[in-house]
Amino acid sequence: MNRSPNFDRLASVYRWMEMATFGCALWHCRCRFLDELRNCRTALVLGDGDGRFTARLLQENPHVRVEVIDTSKAMLRALLRNAGVHRHRISVHHADARQWLPGTSHYDLVVSHFFLDCLSTDEVTALAERLRPCTSDQTRWVVSEFAIPAGWFGRLVAQPLVTSLYLAFRLLTGLRVGRLPQHRSALSCAGFVLDQDFPSLDGLLVSEMWVRALR
Ligand SMILES: C[S@@+](CC[C@H](N)C(=O)[O-])C[C@H]1O[C@@H](n2cnc3c(N)ncnc32)[C@H](O)[C@@H]1O
Repeated sequence: MNRSPNFDRLASVYRWMEMATFGCALWHCRCRFLDELRNCRTALVLGDGDGRFTARLLQENPHVRVEVIDTSKAMLRALLRNAGVHRHRISVHHADARQWLPGTSHYDLVVSHFFLDCLSTDEVTALAERLRPCTSDQTRWVVSEFAIPAGWFGRLVAQPLVTSLYLAFRLLTGLRVGRLPQHRSALSCAGFVLDQDFPSLDGLLVSEMWVRALR
């Protein structure tokens, strides 16, 4: 397994980098299913960075308790700060999700916004297989990701853009992964099934809701 990336130095500027490059598009992607998450009680948020989504989830859902995993201490500090008065409902794990063992917890919500792209396809499969026993038929897994759509837009715009993002993150954080994982085949392999799917920005972004496949 390659070394964990270090997002510490981006924690204070991450939000502004995002706004400068994509405006509100990533935020809309993260919040696409928020209305459907009001009944969740136990959430696992993978790599939420500065925690803007977690803060919003806690505001919208007064009953949910959230566990967060992130390798960046600075991101976790920002996340707790952003959660404000709701921070007592958060447990943080400063850990690499590729090695983290979930124990006996049960989650009715798993969230990964722009996080699976920090992993290889095999790592996404392994993570999803480890999480599956902590889920039930009611569990939803919400995914936001970049994608390369078919056609000229994918070839001429999305692919070069995603490649340059990976290059920038390699320089800034030491991220070793250099291309998008096949997260759909990885989640399917691990026993999840795609339930809803919303592309945006001509297919450059996807918001997805996954549920457990019947076995
Ligand atoms: C690209 S940022 C995405 C942040 C946020 N989820 C968003 O929607 O923008 C990736 C986040 O995942 C964390 N991360 C990257 N690889 C990780 C790993 N293997 N285990 C745990 N956290 C990781 C980083 O520290 C960072 O906070």
